[in-house]
Amino acid sequence: MKIDILPTAADVARRGASVFEAQAQARPALVVALPTGRTPIDMYARLAARRKSGAFDLSRATAFNLDEVLLPRRMPQTFFQFMTRHAWEPLGIAPDRRFIPDGEASDPGAECVRYEDVIAKAGGLDLAILGIGADGHIAYNLPGQAGPRTHVVDLDPRTIATLGGDLQAPLRAITMGVDTIRSARSIVLLATGSSKAEALRRMRDEPVSEAWPCTFFRDHSDLTVIADQAAASQL
Ligand code: PGA
Repeated sequence: MKIDILPTAADVARRGASVFEAQAQARPALVVALPTGRTPIDMYARLAARRKSGAFDLSRATAFNLDEVLLPRRMPQTFFQFMTRHAWEPLGIAPDRRFIPDGEASDPGAECVRYEDVIAKAGGLDLAILGIGADGHIAYNLPGQAGPRTHVVDLDPRTIATLGGDLQAPLRAITMGVDTIRSARSIVLLATGSSKAEALRRMRDEPVSEAWPCTFFRDHSDLTVIADQAAASQL
């Protein structure tokens, strides 16, 4: 695992955007897994500006969301809404190449199987951009709820609180699994702020275990962690 430590969160966004841009230029039909969360917002904004200036074209790219909460799609807390606003529209991902687990699926288990199938039919992931939770979760592979393939998880109250609004337990989500994400040829993990410092330290140093799902990723052959100094403060 390669770790790039940069001074600020803005530097992390800039570096993440430039890695993404290089891949988009090299591979116009890029298949990419994308995150939600506060961390990637600035990266998406920078990419949107670069795209506007003609630096790259994602009209042939395919985007798979890492996860989605099981809520009606019109609700502002859904990742469908987040991605539409921060990524799909600003980055110019074609509407028929935007994939996200269906948070309204009547049979979430069957939806997980379908999602895996769509990823496989797209030829697998070239690139996965990830965030990391303070508790070491990756996508919604939460402590004790990691799984190899796309699966359903129960969100804990702390995770639900990060979604905003007045959502309460029980609330479930669908997440890509550890092996699904690890199958990406390249993985870039963005981490900013001191709240991520323990998770990054454990990701690097802890024995591989379900308690810290981030540990499942560190032996990936092409993983780059891009962290600001605050997130890297325990490394
Ligand atoms: P954050 O979320 O970017 O909002 O910190 C990261 C995550 O939960 O993966």
